[in-house]
Amino acid sequence: MTLCPDSTLSLVSPSISDCQQVAPLKLGIMASGNGSNFDVVAQAIQDGQLNAQIQVLIYNNPSAKAAVRAANRGVEAVLLNHRNYKSREEFDEKIVQTLRHYDVEWVILAGWMRLVTSVFIDAFPERIINIHPSLLPSFKGIHAVEQALASGVKITGCTAHITCLEMDSGPILMQAAVPVLPDDTAETLHARIQIQEHRILPLAIALAASS
Ligand code: GRF
Repeated sequence: MTLCPDSTLSLVSPSISDCQQVAPLKLGIMASGNGSNFDVVAQAIQDGQLNAQIQVLIYNNPSAKAAVRAANRGVEAVLLNHRNYKSREEFDEKIVQTLRHYDVEWVILAGWMRLVTSVFIDAFPERIINIHPSLLPSFKGIHAVEQALASGVKITGCTAHITCLEMDSGPILMQAAVPVLPDDTAETLHARIQIQEHRILPLAIALAASS
């Protein structure tokens, strides 16, 4: 367990110091919006903190800022708009095909706001990592930060976990906790949580790949 030395009180568990991994991980990242988690993974790779390469970014909203971030970093980005597919399964088939085309080994859901089907889960068994803005199993689904505020909890956080078919479920890789402050809004609390998401996501990827 690690007590965070920075100004925001937080607790990260587990801590990892030494991950056994030789070849760079081939990552596919999927994002629907802002893409700050995409960026921190890319930065961790650039800084030599994560031994990986991003093969492709898949995004589903034409206006996703994640695509701009990918362009700025020279990462190939593919738009797969879910509105163009008849079913979730058909959409996921296209996603799997695209990830295979780019030779992806590990998939990172970094703000991917679509439910996934067994078509996708079965194609990458135990190799899909999701980041969620709550301490799972509390506050699954959308508006997790608002749910935490409404519930009155004094501590919340974020979770990196292996993705299963059931939404926001699966073996937990790493969590970080932050306080909920009396004057928090959803925005201020989410910003505090995101600082921790950005710390744990690259670590959780390394941890998953080393086990
Ligand atoms: C994060 O809070 C993540 O936990 C959730 O969606 C948000 C994505 O943020 N699944 P960003 O697009 O990476 O900035």
